[in-house]
Order: sequence, then structure tokens, then C-alpha cells
Amino acid sequence: MERLSIEAYAKVNLGLAVTARRTDGYHDIDTVFQTVSLSDLLSVEPAVGQTTLSVSGHAVPTGPDNLAFRAAELIRSRTACPPVAIGLVKRIPVAAGLGGGSSDAAAVLNGVNELYGLGLARRELEAAALELGSDVPFLVGGGTSRGRGRGEVLERLRDLSHVFFVLATPPVRVSAARGYSGARIGLTESQALIRLSCSAIQNGQTALLETSLRNDLEAGVVSCCPEVADAREALAQAGARVVVMSGSGPTVIGLVRSEAEASGVASRLEGRALEVHIARPTAEGSRIERHGS
Ligand code: C5P
Repeated sequence: MERLSIEAYAKVNLGLAVTARRTDGYHDIDTVFQTVSLSDLLSVEPAVGQTTLSVSGHAVPTGPDNLAFRAAELIRSRTACPPVAIGLVKRIPVAAGLGGGSSDAAAVLNGVNELYGLGLARRELEAAALELGSDVPFLVGGGTSRGRGRGEVLERLRDLSHVFFVLATPPVRVSAARGYSGARIGLTESQALIRLSCSAIQNGQTALLETSLRNDLEAGVVSCCPEVADAREALAQAGARVVVMSGSGPTVIGLVRSEAEASGVASRLEGRALEVHIARPTAEGSRIERHGS
């Protein structure tokens, strides 16, 4: 029987400006999304009867509260395809600003589309993805993209290279709703910085990118989670050139220019109460491998 294994990559936000509060409970944002090589590992195979999900690694729900499960049910309701059995090895920290659950969902949409040869186009997958969450449309394709609207209005940018990330996650969970509740809204300087980041990426100007990273959710999250300020301080002291919170936190990312530099920073964080990962940019949101006949 055929089975797919899928690496579902985490995402970071290289800056995030909150441009407006909307009437539907969401915020309009302007951000640079980047998928990174830290990943969850999924398997997807045909099942009889109903969708199933088994999980190992970091603890997450195994039913409809899990976005991967919901993604399988959504694509089934849209296409009447058979159910799937999903296996998930959860390695990306949970509720950490790294889009782990969103990436699992995007991987399931891509995987079921491939497994059953459904022929859904990228645009259709992204539309389904938005029903699952604001970050999911980006993660269907991944790479480097500017995201506006809720995050679903995407503009692909040049692939980022010559940078590495050190991700430091303090032992607290922050829901996106909580992260957004303390947002600074409508700062013109933050919006100018996002435009600068995009142009730096398009022109391969790493030094300029390093000067332009700011997240309008960070101050609010720091005010309720002092661990985020501590993680930022620790990363800076460990030698990261630039530090910024990812998404709604609490993960902070340090930008460095080589794997050796990243290893040095990570080793200086040993013994701290932080989950630390080294990651490089990826050009796609997930990588699918086929097994069996
Ligand atoms: O879209 P998602 O389900 O990930 O959003 C979770 C919560 O995060 C929303 O209910 C909302 O409170 C907040 N959010 C927001 N603006 C966005 C994305 C998320 O206010 N663009």
C-alpha cells in the first residue's frame, strides 16, 4: 500500500507589523514569512472508515482539536476522497510562534492531494488552508514570502540564503489570540521596516535585513511573559547579530551568517531553560517522499 512521508517545516516571521484591527476579530498584518529546516515528520496513508491521527514527541491532541486532523477532514469533505491515517512526530515546539500546527495542516493538505491524485491547484489548497488558520496558506508553499491581510495575501520573495537561525523557545506557551491582544497597531515605522526587509531580501542585502527586523507583537508578549525578554537577552549575549520574536511568540530567533556561527551561539545557550534549535531557510513548506507501490 502506498504511504507518503512528509517533512513539515516550521516558519519564522522576519518582522511583523500590525497595520489594523479588523471587525472580524483578526488583525491586518504585514510580515515576512520564512520556512526553516526545523520540522515535524508526518506519514499519510489510505485508511478505511475514518480519519485517524497518532502522535509521538511533544504532546498535542489527536482528534479534531489538531489542525492536521482537521485538514484531512476538510479535504475529504471538499473532494469526497477516502479517509487517511496520519502519523505525526511532533518536534516543533507547540504554541511557540513557529507555525508547527499550521505546517502540519498544510502538509496534510498537500499530502492527501498527492496521495489520492486529487489534482487540486495551489490556489485551491491555499483557499482551503485559510479555513484552518491564518498562517496555513503560506505554509502550503513555504519559502520566503511577504504576507498581508490576515497573512494569506502572499507575495513570493527571492529565496533567502547565506543566513542561519538560532531558535530559542522559553518554556511557556502563548496562544496567537493572546499574542495579538497586546499588539501595537498602525505604527508607520514598523510598516516602513517591513518594506525595507522585503527590498533587502530581493537585493540579497543581508546587512540591511539585519537592521530592519521588528515585531509589533513583541512588547505586549514581553509584558506578560518576562521569559521572552530573558531569551532575547540570552541570544544577544550568546552572539546573535539580531534578535526578534517570531509571530506571537514566545520563540525568539537570532539571525547569524553561517552554520558555525549558529553552533557557537547555540552552545553558549546550553544550560539555559530554553529549547534551542539551529535552522536554515528552506525554499518550500514541506517535502514529500513516496513509499510503496
Ligand atoms: O488564524 P488563527 O486561527 O491562527 O488565529 C488565531 C487567533 O489569532 C485569532 O482568533 C486572532 O485572535 C489572532 N489573529 C489575529 N490576526 C491575525 C492572525 C491571528 O488577530 N492576522
